[in-house]
Amino acid sequence: MTDQLTFIAYASRAADPFDHARLVELLTESRANNSRDGITGMLVYSDPDFIQILEGPDAAVRALLERIGRDPRHTDVRVLLDEPATERKYSTWSMGYEPTTPGDGSDDAMASIQTATDEASTRESADALGGWFRDQAGADRI
Ligand SMILES: Cc1cc2nc3c(=O)[nH]c(=O)nc-3n(C[C@H](O)[C@H](O)[C@H](O)COP(=O)(O)O)c2cc1C
Repeated sequence: MTDQLTFIAYASRAADPFDHARLVELLTESRANNSRDGITGMLVYSDPDFIQILEGPDAAVRALLERIGRDPRHTDVRVLLDEPATERKYSTWSMGYEPTTPGDGSDDAMASIQTATDEASTRESADALGGWFRDQAGADRI
């Protein structure tokens, strides 16, 4: 496995709405796997939309993206950004998660990354979503 760090942001849509119990199950499984595989990142969910950021060793991130692409719990997986990174932006989160609520700024941040038309604005939107996440983040709630 190469040591090259890779940063990927993707969007997808839940096949069926995720309630609290399904989110807990998903995050528990993800955090255990990601700790094992050296992957960090964050997940945002505003039904039906998911945005996830994955960062870690290139081969591990690509293997995870392949598993994620086969997961029937969501559809329409679209990679928005896929680039090498020199450092992690989410180093303390094996998979950070913050619940979204209407009017908290997450919908705007999610919409702008989904509609960004070039790499620079996608990266900017990913950073803006990261800023939203960091503002919300205290201890992981679930
Ligand atoms: C929105 C979404 C995000 C996911 N994020 C991760 C993740 O960060 N890490 C992970 O190991 N699995 C994640 N999964 C679950 C994988 O798709 C897969 O079920 C899991 O890695 C186990 O794969 P396996 O059954 O091939 O071992 C995610 C699934 C969904 C629907």
